[in-house]
Amino acid sequence: MDWNGLYASRMSRVVASDIRERMKLLAQKKLIHLGGGLPDPAIFPYQAFADASAAILGDQQRARTALQYAASEGHGPLREWIVGYMASIGVPCALENILIVNGSQQGLDFVGKLLIGAGDTVMVEMPSFIGALRAFDAYEPTYVAVPKAGDPRPAHGAKFAYVGPDFRNPTGTTMTRAERIELLEMAEALDMSIVEDGCYEKLRYDGDPIPSVLALDIERSGDIDRSRVLYTGTLSKTIAPSLRVGWMCGPAPVIRKLTLIKQASDLATSALNQMIALDVVSEHLDAAVATACQVYRERRDSMLDALSASMPEGVTWTRPEGGLYIWVTLPPHIDGAELATHALTDHGVSTISGSAFYPVDPQRNTLRLSFSMIPAEDAREGIRRLALAIEKTPARV
Ligand SMILES: Cc1ncc(COP(=O)(O)O)c(C=O)c1O
Repeated sequence: MDWNGLYASRMSRVVASDIRERMKLLAQKKLIHLGGGLPDPAIFPYQAFADASAAILGDQQRARTALQYAASEGHGPLREWIVGYMASIGVPCALENILIVNGSQQGLDFVGKLLIGAGDTVMVEMPSFIGALRAFDAYEPTYVAVPKAGDPRPAHGAKFAYVGPDFRNPTGTTMTRAERIELLEMAEALDMSIVEDGCYEKLRYDGDPIPSVLALDIERSGDIDRSRVLYTGTLSKTIAPSLRVGWMCGPAPVIRKLTLIKQASDLATSALNQMIALDVVSEHLDAAVATACQVYRERRDSMLDALSASMPEGVTWTRPEGGLYIWVTLPPHIDGAELATHALTDHGVSTISGSAFYPVDPQRNTLRLSFSMIPAEDAREGIRRLALAIEKTPARV
């Protein structure tokens, strides 16, 4: 049977992720892996998970709920907790504004299903989170860049702009408050919506938090149900990704539509996982965030120090205030994909080529690094190897 002839045409745009492929190389111990971006499992709250699982499954009443189908909207008490969490970050909302999803990645797929028809225009940051691009790709959009401050106004017609305002994946950069307001004004002028990815919001290591785009929009419109912003949140980066517990927060009518999509997609997120998540976050979120910030802040600093110590002239990089990523811009003659291959095979250091994060017109002389799993010594050695690989890259003729 030749299955290739049967695939829907949209699948021609669905390709393997460079990152996932490279992660298979993690198994090779000698490598220093600067590309990944996984949260460090050494800091997951194991005891809290053990206690929550035992308490839930050891109680007949709770165990029945935990092993039954959950409501498609999500486990009520967890949604209530999320209402409180959103209020604490400046987003007053109610239960009907929250849908639990299987990680915010599922939320991004649902955004595609809800909003993108073949050929519709979607604005994304360039570069942008690869998982969002892969989720949207299947719905066959045309991509345009979110305009930077001072750019001429883009043409009308985009259905939404997808943005990650805090320490975004892949660049680690953050939108200022003024940029967030400018984005809202542009969206209002073009009558389009905004999909805000709040994945890294809690992982801030320096500086003051900036209100989310959704919070700023509610300040303007006075009510989440009048908002043009749909927000995705997750416990993956603060508690543990394998829970697959994320959420969407937005106007109630939109959440109702998304709930229908959720029902058709997988009925509901695991009740057991949601109940464990709730027990863990209720008691331990603040401590888990504090630990993550302390560990990742030190790792960010040691990687930035290593870059300053080793990188040759002509290489620049971002200095993120949070999150897990540093974005490196190489001299123009160096192709990040070629460098990544050569750095991996000849120098034993793995990185991710920046091109993968552009849906169109990639800036090829770029790389994404992540510091989340890299102790100081490995950062020094890994960056030294990468610098060597850069120095050995011949200028193109
Ligand atoms: C920007 C961004 N959004 C969403 C996700 C997906 O997270 P999850 O599905 O685990 O909530 C990630 C994961 O790396 C991410 O970096």
